[in-house]
Amino acid sequence: MEIKEELKKMLTPARYEHSLRVAEEAKHLASHYQYDEKKAYLAGLIHDIAKDLTEEESKNWIENYNLPKELLEEKNKNLKHADIGAVIAKEKYHLEDDICNAIKFHTLGNETMDLLAKIVFLADKIGRKNLPEDLEIVKKMAYKNIDQSLKLCLEKQEKYLQQKGIKLHKDTKKLLAKLTKEL
Ligand SMILES: [Fe+2]
Ligand SMILES: [Fe+2]
Repeated sequence: MEIKEELKKMLTPARYEHSLRVAEEAKHLASHYQYDEKKAYLAGLIHDIAKDLTEEESKNWIENYNLPKELLEEKNKNLKHADIGAVIAKEKYHLEDDICNAIKFHTLGNETMDLLAKIVFLADKIGRKNLPEDLEIVKKMAYKNIDQSLKLCLEKQEKYLQQKGIKLHKDTKKLLAKLTKEL
Protein backbone atom coordinates (compact mmCIF):
# COMPACT_ATOMS: atom_id res chain seq x y z
CA MET A 1 0.00 0.00 0.00
CA GLU A 2 1.48 3.30 -1.14
CA ILE A 3 0.18 5.21 1.84
CA LYS A 4 2.27 3.02 4.16
CA GLU A 5 5.46 4.16 2.45
CA GLU A 6 4.44 7.79 2.88
CA LEU A 7 3.47 7.26 6.51
CA LYS A 8 6.82 5.65 7.19
CA LYS A 9 8.48 8.87 6.04
CA MET A 10 6.14 11.15 7.98
CA LEU A 11 6.24 9.33 11.31
CA THR A 12 8.90 8.27 13.78
CA PRO A 13 9.54 4.50 13.73
CA ALA A 14 7.74 4.08 17.07
CA ARG A 15 4.73 6.03 15.84
CA TYR A 16 4.63 4.02 12.62
CA GLU A 17 4.65 0.80 14.68
CA HIS A 18 1.82 2.21 16.82
CA SER A 19 -0.15 3.07 13.67
CA LEU A 20 0.17 -0.50 12.34
CA ARG A 21 -1.05 -1.90 15.66
CA VAL A 22 -3.99 0.48 15.78
CA ALA A 23 -4.88 -0.41 12.19
CA GLU A 24 -4.87 -4.14 13.07
CA GLU A 25 -6.99 -3.60 16.16
CA ALA A 26 -9.42 -1.41 14.18
CA LYS A 27 -9.71 -4.19 11.59
CA HIS A 28 -10.49 -6.76 14.31
CA LEU A 29 -13.10 -4.54 15.88
CA ALA A 30 -14.62 -3.86 12.45
CA SER A 31 -14.86 -7.57 11.69
CA HIS A 32 -16.47 -8.13 15.11
CA TYR A 33 -19.11 -5.51 14.39
CA GLN A 34 -19.58 -6.47 10.71
CA TYR A 35 -18.15 -3.16 9.58
CA ASP A 36 -15.95 -2.56 6.50
CA GLU A 37 -12.57 -3.98 7.63
CA LYS A 38 -10.51 -2.27 4.92
CA LYS A 39 -11.92 1.11 5.78
CA ALA A 40 -11.33 0.63 9.50
CA TYR A 41 -7.76 -0.54 8.83
CA LEU A 42 -7.04 2.55 6.73
CA ALA A 43 -8.57 4.92 9.28
CA GLY A 44 -6.54 3.32 12.07
CA LEU A 45 -3.41 3.40 9.98
CA ILE A 46 -3.53 7.12 9.29
CA HIS A 47 -5.11 8.42 12.52
CA ASP A 48 -1.79 9.92 13.73
CA ILE A 49 -0.58 11.10 10.31
CA ALA A 50 -0.11 14.67 11.58
CA LYS A 51 1.48 13.82 14.90
CA ASP A 52 5.12 14.19 13.85
CA LEU A 53 4.80 17.26 11.65
CA THR A 54 7.17 20.13 12.41
CA GLU A 55 5.76 23.27 14.04
CA GLU A 56 6.16 25.00 10.69
CA GLU A 57 4.24 22.31 8.80
CA SER A 58 1.44 22.32 11.37
CA LYS A 59 1.23 26.09 11.15
CA ASN A 60 0.93 25.93 7.36
CA TRP A 61 -1.92 23.43 7.44
CA ILE A 62 -3.72 25.47 10.09
CA GLU A 63 -3.35 28.72 8.17
CA ASN A 64 -4.06 27.33 4.71
CA TYR A 65 -7.18 25.43 5.71
CA ASN A 66 -8.62 27.95 8.18
CA LEU A 67 -8.39 25.72 11.20
CA PRO A 68 -8.85 27.48 14.55
CA LYS A 69 -5.79 29.59 15.33
CA GLU A 70 -5.82 28.50 18.97
CA LEU A 71 -4.60 25.10 17.82
CA LEU A 72 -1.19 26.75 17.59
CA GLU A 73 -1.18 27.50 21.32
CA GLU A 74 1.06 25.45 23.58
CA LYS A 75 -1.89 24.08 25.57
CA ASN A 76 -3.24 22.49 22.39
CA LYS A 77 0.03 20.83 21.50
CA ASN A 78 -1.45 17.35 21.68
CA LEU A 79 -4.81 18.22 20.21
CA LYS A 80 -3.94 19.75 16.88
CA HIS A 81 -2.75 16.54 15.22
CA ALA A 82 -6.34 15.27 15.18
CA ASP A 83 -7.70 18.33 13.38
CA ILE A 84 -4.76 18.59 11.00
CA GLY A 85 -4.80 14.84 10.34
CA ALA A 86 -8.44 15.07 9.26
CA VAL A 87 -7.58 17.86 6.83
CA ILE A 88 -4.64 15.92 5.38
CA ALA A 89 -6.87 12.87 4.92
CA LYS A 90 -9.39 14.97 3.04
CA GLU A 91 -7.18 17.30 1.02
CA LYS A 92 -4.20 15.11 0.25
CA TYR A 93 -5.74 11.64 0.12
CA HIS A 94 -9.35 12.56 -0.73
CA LEU A 95 -10.67 10.11 1.83
CA GLU A 96 -14.34 9.85 2.74
CA ASP A 97 -15.85 12.14 5.37
CA ASP A 98 -16.39 9.37 7.89
CA ILE A 99 -12.69 8.49 7.85
CA CYS A 100 -11.77 12.17 8.24
CA ASN A 101 -14.17 12.49 11.17
CA ALA A 102 -12.77 9.38 12.83
CA ILE A 103 -9.33 11.03 12.69
CA LYS A 104 -10.68 14.35 13.92
CA PHE A 105 -12.41 12.78 16.92
CA HIS A 106 -9.74 10.27 17.96
CA THR A 107 -8.27 12.38 20.76
CA LEU A 108 -11.22 14.11 22.43
CA GLY A 109 -14.18 12.12 21.18
CA ASN A 110 -17.39 13.79 20.06
CA GLU A 111 -21.08 13.16 20.62
CA THR A 112 -21.61 12.74 16.86
CA MET A 113 -19.16 9.83 16.60
CA ASP A 114 -20.28 6.95 14.39
CA LEU A 115 -19.16 3.32 14.64
CA LEU A 116 -15.96 3.93 12.65
CA ALA A 117 -14.96 6.84 14.90
CA LYS A 118 -15.59 4.72 18.00
CA ILE A 119 -13.54 1.88 16.53
CA VAL A 120 -10.57 4.17 15.82
CA PHE A 121 -10.81 5.91 19.20
CA LEU A 122 -10.73 2.62 21.07
CA ALA A 123 -8.21 0.90 18.80
CA ASP A 124 -5.85 3.79 19.55
CA LYS A 125 -6.07 3.02 23.27
CA ILE A 126 -6.24 -0.78 23.24
CA GLY A 127 -4.18 -1.63 20.16
CA ARG A 128 -0.96 -1.63 22.15
CA LYS A 129 1.56 -4.10 23.49
CA ASN A 130 1.51 -4.84 27.24
CA LEU A 131 -1.77 -3.20 28.13
CA PRO A 132 -2.18 -2.13 31.76
CA GLU A 133 -4.94 -3.92 33.65
CA ASP A 134 -7.51 -1.14 33.36
CA LEU A 135 -7.09 -1.00 29.57
CA GLU A 136 -7.38 -4.81 29.38
CA ILE A 137 -10.85 -4.35 30.85
CA VAL A 138 -11.64 -1.65 28.27
CA LYS A 139 -10.41 -4.01 25.53
CA LYS A 140 -12.54 -6.94 26.68
CA MET A 141 -15.54 -4.64 26.84
CA ALA A 142 -14.80 -3.25 23.35
CA TYR A 143 -15.65 -6.69 21.92
CA LYS A 144 -18.85 -6.96 23.96
CA ASN A 145 -20.38 -3.48 23.96
CA ILE A 146 -18.48 -0.74 22.19
CA ASP A 147 -20.38 2.13 23.83
CA GLN A 148 -19.82 0.69 27.28
CA SER A 149 -16.14 0.34 26.47
CA LEU A 150 -15.96 3.94 25.27
CA LYS A 151 -17.67 5.09 28.47
CA LEU A 152 -15.18 3.16 30.61
CA CYS A 153 -12.31 4.65 28.67
CA LEU A 154 -13.60 8.22 29.08
CA GLU A 155 -14.26 7.76 32.79
CA LYS A 156 -10.71 6.55 33.15
CA GLN A 157 -9.47 9.64 31.31
CA GLU A 158 -11.62 11.89 33.49
CA LYS A 159 -10.19 10.36 36.66
CA TYR A 160 -6.64 10.65 35.38
CA LEU A 161 -7.11 14.31 34.48
CA GLN A 162 -8.88 15.06 37.76
CA GLN A 163 -5.79 13.89 39.65
CA LYS A 164 -3.79 16.42 37.68
CA GLY A 165 -6.37 19.12 38.35
CA ILE A 166 -7.43 19.28 34.68
CA LYS A 167 -11.05 19.28 33.56
CA LEU A 168 -12.36 17.09 30.78
CA HIS A 169 -12.63 18.93 27.42
CA LYS A 170 -16.19 20.02 26.66
CA ASP A 171 -16.49 17.68 23.66
CA THR A 172 -15.39 14.70 25.73
CA LYS A 173 -17.73 15.73 28.51
CA LYS A 174 -20.68 15.89 26.10
CA LEU A 175 -19.89 12.45 24.73
CA LEU A 176 -19.59 10.97 28.21
CA ALA A 177 -22.90 12.57 29.25
CA LYS A 178 -24.58 11.13 26.15
CA LEU A 179 -23.22 7.63 26.80
CA THR A 180 -24.17 7.79 30.47
CA LYS A 181 -27.71 8.74 29.52
CA GLU A 182 -28.04 6.03 26.90
CA LEU A 183 -26.47 3.11 28.71
FE1 LIG B 1 -3.29 10.61 18.17
FE1 LIG C 1 -2.46 7.18 18.21
